[in-house]
Amino acid sequence: MRVKLRIKRFDGEGDREPYWAEYEVEAEPTDRLLDALHAVKWYQDGTLSFRRSCAHGVCGSDAMLINGRNRLACKVLVKDLGERITVEPLRGYPVIKDLVVDQTAFFQKYESVKPYLSPEGEPPARERLQTPEQRERFDDTTKCILCAACTTSCPSFWSNPDYVGPAAIVNAHRFLFDSRDAATAERLAGLNGTDGVWRCRTVFNCVEACPRGIDITRAIGEVKKALLLGRT
Ligand code: SF4
Ligand code: F3S
Ligand code: FES
Repeated sequence: MRVKLRIKRFDGEGDREPYWAEYEVEAEPTDRLLDALHAVKWYQDGTLSFRRSCAHGVCGSDAMLINGRNRLACKVLVKDLGERITVEPLRGYPVIKDLVVDQTAFFQKYESVKPYLSPEGEPPARERLQTPEQRERFDDTTKCILCAACTTSCPSFWSNPDYVGPAAIVNAHRFLFDSRDAATAERLAGLNGTDGVWRCRTVFNCVEACPRGIDITRAIGEVKKALLLGRT
């Protein structure tokens, strides 16, 4: 099939404003959008810039706004997008070039929740045991690939870029509900501030955007409940 791609581009240099560029490519209906972007970059215009790595929905690097929705270019098929496809960079972060945004602030928020296990005491001689039920409590939030599709689809984040955002909360949840972790109070205190978890207004855009199917609003609700109870 013949596909028209309308791509929002930005040079990142000089005074030129962002502009729309159009390309036509031949694609199989079962090609991913990433294949069509490669067809442009490799055979028509090598200056087109976008991030990608694994091409299989694992690395999280190719999230972009596709036909008005945040998705991974490597997970969406051309046949499901139609013959005219619009592609824009994620919203809410400065554009460096074309579809590449500056994710510095995104990863600062991620780091702010201390996304690593902080157990108490000396390391044991063998692994710290956990029951299947204890593991189940945070199973969903281990699936995050840090693609930023959730945070950059959130109206609360658009109106206040200081909001910690759903991605960081998901990653806080992953450790808050881990029975081996001992930094609960510290993590909860960090999420209780003006720009913390209470900024979430349960808009659900994040759930719709997540390519991993994580129940983000449930995770956010559990963190809010933990704050009210003072425990997980
Ligand atoms: Fe991406 Fe989902 Fe993780 Fe958000 S929660 S960063 S949408 S994988
Ligand atoms: Fe935003 Fe998701 Fe909450 S879209 S307001 S973080 S439910
Ligand atoms: Fe890795 Fe799409 S290229 S998730």
